[in-house]
Amino acid sequence: MDNTEPSNKLLRIKFMSDLHQEFNSPTFDHYATLTDLYDIFIIAGDGSNCNSIIEIEKLANAIAPKSLLYVTGNHDYYHSDRATIDDAFYHLQDCIDNFYFLNHGIIDLGTHVVIGCTGWQYFNGYNIDNYPMNDFKLIDDHAKSIEFWYNDDRNFLKETLKNFQNEDVKMIVVTHVPPCKSAIDLSSKEAVDKIRYGMLKAYHNNYDDLIKKYEPALWLCGHMHNSFDGMVHNTRVVRNAHGYFGSERLNKEFNEHLIIEV
Ligand SMILES: [Fe+2]
Repeated sequence: MDNTEPSNKLLRIKFMSDLHQEFNSPTFDHYATLTDLYDIFIIAGDGSNCNSIIEIEKLANAIAPKSLLYVTGNHDYYHSDRATIDDAFYHLQDCIDNFYFLNHGIIDLGTHVVIGCTGWQYFNGYNIDNYPMNDFKLIDDHAKSIEFWYNDDRNFLKETLKNFQNEDVKMIVVTHVPPCKSAIDLSSKEAVDKIRYGMLKAYHNNYDDLIKKYEPALWLCGHMHNSFDGMVHNTRVVRNAHGYFGSERLNKEFNEHLIIEV
């Protein structure tokens, strides 16, 4: 990875998620600013509906040699399937030196390690045939694969956090889905709406035990279209989602210049 060694052992991360370019939000190269002020750029998924690749390529080229790290969100797979989209992201990673697809990805920077995956949700107990989420209809293989994807991501995170727990590195985890319920402000309008429609469980995972046991320094996430910056046990959790342009699910607190030091 070029030009990403943190100075004074602090890593400066430009961070955002849920850019949702399919809603005519700004194109990704709009965010190719402040390149002198950060070490790496991380996006936590939902770039667009299955054509994020074009936008990511433009942004990676615009910020080079700074590195762009990406975890996919559910929207990145809409109108397609997991294997097709993952293959496209791996192909982009092969073609562009400064792009990294965090699909069970581990980027070891010496003083910090970045660990990433989508963090597919835990739907145990739900009858997904009746569940009001587009994902099951718009991602071809989602409904039949959700249990495997959930277990696969959880096992990856658990094993990787365990492996680095006693290393002298700061662990940074990136998932699209918030790691746990306490990473959501339950008084926010978006959370209140999800609770009203019985959908909140689709907007967080059940990684409380992983956070408590392995204490990563930072957990970056998206999926909820609002902002969050708070502590869960000893881990700082941050969300900086853009949301749907032209809709009430646009996050008015989105900070396109957010840089986090860890
Ligand atoms: Fe989203």
